[in-house]
Amino acid sequence: MGDQAKLSVGGKEIDLPVLKGSVGPDVIDIRKLYAQTGAFTYDPGFTSTGSCESALTYIDGDEGVLLHRGYPIGQLAEQSSFLEVCYLLLNGELPSQAELGKFEHTITRHTMVHEQLSSFFSGFRRDAHPMAVMCGVVGALSAFYHDSTDISDPVQRRIASHRLIAKMPTIAAMAYKYSVGQPFVYPDNKLSYAGNFLKMTFGVPAEEYEVIPAVEKAMDRIFILHADHEQNASTSTVRLAGSSGANPFACIAAGIACLWGPAHGGANEACLNMLREIGTPDKIPHFIERAKDKNDPFRLMGFGHRVYKNYDPRATVMQQTVREVFDALKVNDPLFETALRLEELARSDPYFIEKKLFPNVDFYSGIILSAIGFPTEMFTVLFALARTVGWVAQWNEMIGDPGQKIGRPRQLYTGPTERDYVPLSAR
Ligand code: SDX
Repeated sequence: MGDQAKLSVGGKEIDLPVLKGSVGPDVIDIRKLYAQTGAFTYDPGFTSTGSCESALTYIDGDEGVLLHRGYPIGQLAEQSSFLEVCYLLLNGELPSQAELGKFEHTITRHTMVHEQLSSFFSGFRRDAHPMAVMCGVVGALSAFYHDSTDISDPVQRRIASHRLIAKMPTIAAMAYKYSVGQPFVYPDNKLSYAGNFLKMTFGVPAEEYEVIPAVEKAMDRIFILHADHEQNASTSTVRLAGSSGANPFACIAAGIACLWGPAHGGANEACLNMLREIGTPDKIPHFIERAKDKNDPFRLMGFGHRVYKNYDPRATVMQQTVREVFDALKVNDPLFETALRLEELARSDPYFIEKKLFPNVDFYSGIILSAIGFPTEMFTVLFALARTVGWVAQWNEMIGDPGQKIGRPRQLYTGPTERDYVPLSAR
């Protein structure tokens, strides 16, 4: 018999199994709690709740550790490639040279989208937020590709996963092109995943586009840093949508919608806008005081995290990448100095120290993306592009779990108890 947790509720004492993972906190298995006690647990923000078993990504928030299938994010960012990380997340092991080559070929051959998909863009205003366009167009993919939507068939699940990973850069680039009134640029299968995305985004039919290797490498690394992150809000959204057996493309559209929020993936856009509002370092103290003021809804965007109570290891790599991109493009952005100073002052402030608030993945990413040439509104689109592999890997893991059930939380009801209808004439 494994460890047990004793719970006394409503005059009853019950034993609940304690389950151990390969690393990280134990979990108390409460699946029989309601049947045995008539009580639910209550955890609206899931601050103490494990929603599933997973072997994909492990985060130790206290130590600032992030592992994908056991490999530290710092090593993957330094030594791997985004498509290799995609293979790792989908298959569980690093690929051989042959396996990687085959996977890259497969993804490359799925980069084009159905030609009719192009017509979806023309229904949007040119100034539509590109995340609104992504929600709509990725959702529209569910009206295509009917040969890969039988989720009970692992082969079809795999094809749908490859299509999503391959087509997100194409659709993201199309959303950008539509916003600037330039023609869509078709994928170029001679290029790398990141290089192809840069060309589809910034290339124009009127001239050759030259991929800058240092920018291509930075782009690929930024994709790696955003690939997956345990059961974050958008991943949990994809899992919940998928638990009903919904179309995989529609599930990913649901994840995009959730990621858009400024408390989640939208923070990279909000963070650069905040840095622009702050402007120069002398204005930082005022904003730090606002962030600490309970009566002021302002928060330091790109700071704090539900899990990390230490430095987000992705932010470390991101900060290093700022310098590499600045050197490669021979640019500078005074907002980088403002960001460095903001981090320094915030991290020495008792409020941030006590609440263990550190920069997260979104704090420096916008400075890099802006230097490369992306408008602020595209930042979360790039996050969605990269997180698609995490979403599909987590979705596959859930659908492939023989014990998988539809997600259906309960509640603490605090509304009116039963009462009789009062006819209008009597009110
Ligand atoms: C991502 O989950 C993931 O893994 C997400 C992600 C991923 O890869 O998928 O890592 C990507 O979403 C990163 C987070 C991006 N969001 C932001 O940078 C927005 C700013 N951060 C905050 O909104 C906040 O930190 C959250 C939303 C990220 C986390 O919020 P929690 O876990 O619900 O924590 P909380 O709001 O309860 O904060 C705890 C305390 C509060 O003070 P008290 O009520 O206890 O007095 O810290 C304060 C908060 O007011 N606080 C902040 C703050 N973040 C938290 N105060 C000022 N500035 C901040 N940024």
